[in-house]
Amino acid sequence: MRHLNRPDESHTMTTAPSLKKLTPLDIARRKGGEPVVCLTAYSTPMARLLDPIADLLLVGDSLGMVIYGFESTLPVTLEMMIAHGAAVTRGAKHACVIVDMPFGSYQESPAQAFHGAARIMAETGAAGIKLEGGEAMAETVRFLVERGIPVLGHIGLQPQSVNVIGGFRAQGRSEAEAARVMADARAAAQAGCFAIVIEGTSEPVARRATEAVHVPTIGIGASPACDGQILVTEDLLGLSGMQSPRFVKRYAELGPLVSAAAASYAEEVRQHRFPGPEHCYGPSSIDSKPGKPAASTQRR
Ligand code: KIV
Repeated sequence: MRHLNRPDESHTMTTAPSLKKLTPLDIARRKGGEPVVCLTAYSTPMARLLDPIADLLLVGDSLGMVIYGFESTLPVTLEMMIAHGAAVTRGAKHACVIVDMPFGSYQESPAQAFHGAARIMAETGAAGIKLEGGEAMAETVRFLVERGIPVLGHIGLQPQSVNVIGGFRAQGRSEAEAARVMADARAAAQAGCFAIVIEGTSEPVARRATEAVHVPTIGIGASPACDGQILVTEDLLGLSGMQSPRFVKRYAELGPLVSAAAASYAEEVRQHRFPGPEHCYGPSSIDSKPGKPAASTQRR
């Protein structure tokens, strides 16, 4: 019987077990080299699956929309980010884990940002934090980096500013917007970001921004000109339950598989076919190894 309290390692058996743990410095050194592969993760099981594959796992505040069903990322709290950040670091032995700072936890002052970022670092074990903003956050980024906190920048479309920019819309299409993205890229790099996410930005502007900075750019809806790419994992798996934006490629359609598995379970329960004899304890059955009770007996 499968013990649910132990990691199911069957998915990762084909990957090398001795992958080195990547740091923000390793990511920074990838400028112009092998593309940086980044994915979001919000939970330990997903982190375990993605860890051998990705260079960087981002615990994004997109979890507010993807996991919690909020309309935007604005209601996400520091406590949520810390809980999910800690879950992801427990599942990641190789990838560099970065945790997003949520709206309202860093914009007020560098000191406020340090307080929140230090909590994230201490309570999750993450390698660094991400925050949105270029020029406007440059002083804060410098303050954090000088005090030992690696920062991943985020420019272009900044979802926490959705109410100011008038919706989730691509940036860099007017001259003024292009100039803003370029200024933000330079400011974020000069302030000490080890890499910069460029979201929802037109191809020529993302390319120019990538050429203008000495650290890797990680694109999401920002063309292949960037030094790496990131997608929300649920989007590429077809699990978000929402229509995907244009920049998402759906590599799988797992939603219908989940529905079909749940429907099979429901049918078997209703027809008294599940649980079968193999899922039941006999009178003297102790289905656990010494010191390792089965998950089902631990839970109840
Ligand atoms: O919150 C998030 O997941 C992000 C990525 C999409 C870049 O910021």
